[in-house]
Amino acid sequence: MLPGMDKFLITGGKPLQGTVRIAGAKNATLPVMAATLLSPGVSEIHDVPDLRDVRKMKDILTILGAKIESGPSWCRVDASHITSSQVPERLMREMRSSVFIMGALLGRQGAVKLSYPGGCAIGPRPIDLHLKGLASLGARISERHGYIIAEAKKLQGSDIHLDFPSVGATENIMMAAVLADGVTVIRNAAKEPEVVDLQNFLNKMGARIRGAGTDTIKIEGVSTLGSASHNVIPDRIEAGTFMVAAAMTGGDVYLENVIAEHNEPVTAKLREAGAFVEPVGDKVHVWAKGRLTAVDVKTLPYPGYPTDMQPQTMAMLSGAAGTSVIIENIFANRFKHVDELRRMGAQISIEGRAAVIRGVERLSGAAVEASDLRAGVALVLAGLVAEGQTVVDHIYHIDRGYEGLEHKLAALGAQVQRLQK
Ligand code: UD1
Repeated sequence: MLPGMDKFLITGGKPLQGTVRIAGAKNATLPVMAATLLSPGVSEIHDVPDLRDVRKMKDILTILGAKIESGPSWCRVDASHITSSQVPERLMREMRSSVFIMGALLGRQGAVKLSYPGGCAIGPRPIDLHLKGLASLGARISERHGYIIAEAKKLQGSDIHLDFPSVGATENIMMAAVLADGVTVIRNAAKEPEVVDLQNFLNKMGARIRGAGTDTIKIEGVSTLGSASHNVIPDRIEAGTFMVAAAMTGGDVYLENVIAEHNEPVTAKLREAGAFVEPVGDKVHVWAKGRLTAVDVKTLPYPGYPTDMQPQTMAMLSGAAGTSVIIENIFANRFKHVDELRRMGAQISIEGRAAVIRGVERLSGAAVEASDLRAGVALVLAGLVAEGQTVVDHIYHIDRGYEGLEHKLAALGAQVQRLQK
């Protein structure tokens, strides 16, 4: 089925005001859901966001033989019987995170067949680090007719040094290694909070993993895993998006269900730009008065500035006083939102991985198109401050990662409406 071609109609000019609850993290939920395949038990996951990517992951688990029950913000996965080790190409193409199935199925079944995963159009996203890691654990990997086949009678613990701290490769290798014979050490591992969340879930199932959150993760293989219940961490990118939205509209917003520490890079930049950010328990209060000022930003692996906040930050700086420079270090082609922001009057020039943004007094509403998830939400944020009306097309990209975005924004006083085709 083709995704819907809904649009958002936004009338700019309203400062956001009020309280918004942040959902569970998409990027923590997806690997945790994949990890349920490792155990013949029943896993319960709470604070599951209602997103297109999460629904696709449920489809994948079901096709593999798992039984899923779900309700508002929870799901229960019974993976006692896995009946297939092959994910249909259609589902692989629709979602990049389907690649996590590889580590989990290899660990549990000793075999997996997948086609190359799809996902956001933000530049080349190879999976060589995933494959090298799995090969190092003893998997035989072959590629035929567009499919990747990985097989291993029994994986063996290994010492793996990642060339780059890839989040997905770290998570995939962790999943494969929990049931391997012996000890696996992942060096130069990704330190993202979602990796820590996966470690916590796997350990509740009976795995023996230490070190997630640092650059060295040690996994002692165990022979079997059991049932577990887990609450996924709050979505730091959804939180960051609302923090930026509050600041750039000159608003005053309380965000609930936030781990402030996970948002430190965004907090630091917002303060530097002249906004106020105050963590209060599991809430964060963000407000701003008047025009923000230009700041420079470099995206880096955690705890550096998140690449998933780069487009939203660019939308914010498009209206800040002065000239800002953003350097995108993680993905090669993550500036697709620039042409669309220019249609709204932004003055941005691109030189390789650098974007130079000369802040304009006011953006102007225009018809624009989302090219991927974060690029799409950046255009919505730009629409919130633009003069007149903005129509953002192709918002199915935004639906992959934001639960009820228009309702949350409307509850904060924004004028945002979904136009259904
Ligand atoms: C995850 C996040 C995504 C975020 C990204 C970086 C999920 C589901 N998605 O994606 O939202 O933007 O982290 O924070 O958690 N690379 C290779 N070879 C590989 C793997 C990655 O060269 O085998 C490169 C990528 O092309 C990219 C960089 O490493 O340039 C970072 O990618 P990675 O950390 O793997 O991102 P994802 O796990 O795909």
